[in-house]
Amino acid sequence: MDQTVRLNEAFNSFTQASKSLETYYAKLREKVQYLTEELEKKNAQLSEFEKQNERNSRLIAMGEMAAKIVHEIRSPLCSIELFSTMLSKDLEGTAHAEMSRGISTGIQSLNNILTNMLLFARNQKPSFREVRLAAVVEESIKMLSPLAEIRGVNVVTNLTNDVTDGDAELSKQVFMNIFLNAIQAMPDGGRLEVSMQSDDEFITVAVTDEGEGINPENLEKIFDPFFSTKDKGTGLGLTIAYKIMQCHNGFIKAFKNADKGSIFYLYFPKNKNAVSRKEDVLCMNR
Ligand SMILES: Nc1ncnc2c1ncn2[C@@H]1O[C@H](COP(=O)(O)OP(=O)(O)O)[C@@H](O)[C@H]1O
Ligand SMILES: [Mg+2]
Repeated sequence: MDQTVRLNEAFNSFTQASKSLETYYAKLREKVQYLTEELEKKNAQLSEFEKQNERNSRLIAMGEMAAKIVHEIRSPLCSIELFSTMLSKDLEGTAHAEMSRGISTGIQSLNNILTNMLLFARNQKPSFREVRLAAVVEESIKMLSPLAEIRGVNVVTNLTNDVTDGDAELSKQVFMNIFLNAIQAMPDGGRLEVSMQSDDEFITVAVTDEGEGINPENLEKIFDPFFSTKDKGTGLGLTIAYKIMQCHNGFIKAFKNADKGSIFYLYFPKNKNAVSRKEDVLCMNR
């Protein structure tokens, strides 16, 4: 009898031990499965990182190559520009004056494309100074005036004397891109209005044209790199403008005008409100 009880007890403990073992085993299996899945996830992430890294290295190499090509093209283009300006002066008042103006506008447009490419391909270190925005607007308009004239675009300005903490060259590139788009949007001529106003926080430059306007479904895409609805567009102008405005702690907004054309608002922070200078920030490729 005693033996049977002991045997029963032994059997019970064995059953319990084997049950606990089973539970442990199940838990262990769950843990192994969880770890295997985690490992697979990490492996997938790792190979995605490797791919990204490879893509980034390729992009950096392409950027460097683009920057080199731009430099190579820039120097002969500068000489051509100089000769074309001399030629324009010589031909003033003659039947060929129009042709030389055409050469100048072509060079201007090439220069603008090259500057955009360079800014896109390379990180640019902005150099901030006190900038009177009206002067930059006027300089950009002056540079584009031959093109505006050829296209029959009448430029009207209403500017203030406000100053911002900014990079004059970079902000000029913003205006060049916005004005150029506006002129290109009006192949049969029209009115391009540039007006400034300011409040405590921002100096706002509003650029209004009477062109074809922006398709509402494209409003989201126009600042994306390489988005262009033009046959020969690079789709970099607004990307660069957007990035430069970001560098200035400012921003840019685009709207389709209710009746016709588009309106771009550029918001530059007022001097005292420029949160922080970003001289040390390489912000072009962020
Ligand atoms: N003033 C404007 N009027 C109409 N469409 C515009 C205007 N400005 C920009 N866009 C649209 O935004 C697109 C992107 O402009 P941008 O980045 O300067 O590249 P690109 O001029 O080379 O096409 C243009 O192709 C055009 O569709
Ligand atoms: Mg453009």
